[in-house]
Formats: sequence, structure tokens, C-alpha cells
Amino acid sequence: MELVASGKLQKMTASIFQEVADRKKQAIRNGKDVIDLSVGSPDLPPPAFVVDTLVEFAKDKSKYGYTLKGIAEFHDAVSYFYQHRYGVKLEPETEVLQLMGSQDGLAHLATAICNPGDYVLVPDPGYPIYEASVTIAGGVVYPMALRAENDFLPQFDEIPLDVLEKTRMMILSYPGNPVTALADRDFFEKVIRFAKQHNILVVHDFAYSELIFDGHPQISFMSIPGAKEVGIEFNSLSKTFNMAGCRIGYVVGNEEALKILGGLKSHIDYGIFYPIQQAAVKALTSDYTCLSDQVKEYEIRRDALIAGLEKSGWKVSKSPATMFVWAKIPEGWTSRQFAFELIDHAGVAVVPGDAFGQLGEGYVRIAMVQPTDLLTEAAERIQVFLKENSYCVK
Ligand SMILES: Cc1ncc(COP(=O)(O)O)c(C=O)c1O
Repeated sequence: MELVASGKLQKMTASIFQEVADRKKQAIRNGKDVIDLSVGSPDLPPPAFVVDTLVEFAKDKSKYGYTLKGIAEFHDAVSYFYQHRYGVKLEPETEVLQLMGSQDGLAHLATAICNPGDYVLVPDPGYPIYEASVTIAGGVVYPMALRAENDFLPQFDEIPLDVLEKTRMMILSYPGNPVTALADRDFFEKVIRFAKQHNILVVHDFAYSELIFDGHPQISFMSIPGAKEVGIEFNSLSKTFNMAGCRIGYVVGNEEALKILGGLKSHIDYGIFYPIQQAAVKALTSDYTCLSDQVKEYEIRRDALIAGLEKSGWKVSKSPATMFVWAKIPEGWTSRQFAFELIDHAGVAVVPGDAFGQLGEGYVRIAMVQPTDLLTEAAERIQVFLKENSYCVK
């Protein structure tokens, strides 16, 4: 039998993450010890009370059936969490939709909302599923440039009117992946005015809502007046409570949008394992001390990594949020050359910036998913590598 992937799949760019993983495997086969800072999967464990809840419910043999959708306690818990953490009031039944990780919703939303040929405004650089989901839906991606000189905010006046006429959705993420910048309330207010003017659904990805450092405010898009009229917000327990493998997340906000996405999901999946839902309820309604402890841990990691890199003469901006450092690479390399040479010669795996869009060229993404001592060692290895390549070490 001759089998080829569909045209849509062929249109999707090959995953650079796979290339990084293959390169890392090869380096290990060659005897290199590699510190892996490539994949954004948390190394920290979930809080003990979450694991205990999961184990307790997993012992109940009557809880192994399909759940079909989120249990009422989960919807209530998300509503409680949003009220307590971001000052946002949500109707648990109609303004919360459970997802198998926010990726589930991000991957399916364009299929639920867009017809072939519809435009979607997508950040460049941006998290890869944004673009892939539009391709799956047969839509057209319009990249919105995120540039350092504009504080990584899109410039709406750069988007042609004929594109806006065909645009159904706009995707934003503050703080995001790989760009870790934050947005303020003024920006979000501008987004709402723009979305109303052009009849565009705003999709805000807030997966890193609880990894915001140095006392910066945690601004949910849903806390801005008018947001529910035009927008939805994705969130997840993956990074907030280190439950990435449990595959549980949610989307909140505009009731109509959630109904449409929920309609598509009812054809696709049968809900999340009941014990995982109960563990999530426990996490979302806890006293949240685990969250402030976690922020402190990431701040320590970030400061150690940045200080270590600075010793090599490589000046990297301090991330205000997330588990990533979005680092402008030294002159003389492409992102891929630099990332691959770091794997081969320094034994440090990071992701080349062009994995996230054209404007990611010139950057690498470093995930702070190892303890501080290993991050310091990674910085030391990079220092030796840069010295050997006669990069300006002072
Ligand atoms: C910005 C962003 N959004 C969404 C996701 C998906 O997370 P999950 O499906 O685990 O909720 C990730 C995962 O890394 C991410 O970085």
C-alpha cells in the first residue's frame, strides 16, 4: 500500500523539537553528557496533597468509566480559582469548559470556529500549536510580529484592512512561550476595542499565569471590562501545579465560543479520568502557598542561569515570567547552528528560536526545567564553549 500524509499535514512544518531530541540522543551515543533544557515539561512534582487525592480516588473501582465532560466540582473549582487569583467572576456551568490540557482546546478551536480561508492572527514568535491548529482547520495564518523594540506587543496598525475583514480570531499569550513578556491593562483594553471594531474573537493563552516573577501583577485578560464579550482565556494545571502528564486544563470566558468548542469536543473525546479531575479540584481550591513557593524557586533558577551566562559575556534579558529564558544569541550563528553546537560541544540542549516562527531566528529558548546547580553547570559549559569559539569573554 502506498500511503502519504494529507496535504494539510504536509503543510505543517516538521517539528524542530524532534530534531533537537534526535541530536541529543546522538550526542549521548557519542558519550556526551547532555543537560536537557529543551522541553518545557516541569521537573518539579505536584503538591503532595494533589498526589494523595489522586491515589485515594484511583482506589475506587467505580470511577473508571467515561466522565464525558467536566464534573460540577471541577467547574466550581475553576470559578473559585479565578475569583481568588485574578478577581474574575465566572459562571461555573456556562463560562468554564474542561479540556484535556489547554493544548486540546488550542488544537481544536480553529476547527470549531473557522471556515476554510478564514484568517487567524497568530503571534510570531509563538507557541507552535497556534499555527498548526489553523492549518488543520484549513484557515490562513497571518503572523503578528512580536519585536523587542515594541515590548513584544503586536502592532495592530500593521495589519492590512482586507486581512482584518477576513479575520475570525486573534491569538495572544502574556506571559507566553517562547516570548516571556507581560502585557498591561492598557494593552488588553486596546485589544478589546480592536476586537469589537473588527468582530474578532480574542483567544488569550494564560498557561503561565502562576509563573510571574518579581511581584509583577498577574493580569487575566478576563479581568478587563468587556473581555467576556469578545474573548476566551485558556489555562491549565500543567505548569501551575506540575500536573502536565495528567492532561487537564480549561478555557473560560465567552459563553458562545465555549459552547461551540464544547460541541466539537463532544464528538472527539469522553472526558478526563475522574480521579484526575478530583486531584485538580483539590489543587485549584488549596491555600496556594505551593504557588508562591514555586515562584521563588523559578526566580532563583532564573537568576542563577542569567548570572552564569553573563560571566561568559553573553548578556541575556531577565525573564519576567514563565519557565523559559528567551535569549538573543551571540552574533555569527543562526539559531539552529548555535543550538546544535551547544548540544554537540557544550552538552546543553536548548531549542532554536525559529521553531516558533520566522522572527524567532536569532534566539534560542532555554527551559529552566532542571535544579539550580544543573542550570549553573549548563551556564559554565556554555561559557567554555563560547571561549573556545573566541566569543568576547571579558
Ligand atoms: C504557551 C503554552 N500554551 C499551552 C501549552 C499546553 O499546555 P497543556 O496542554 O499541558 O495545558 C503549553 C505547553 O507547554 C504552552 O507553553
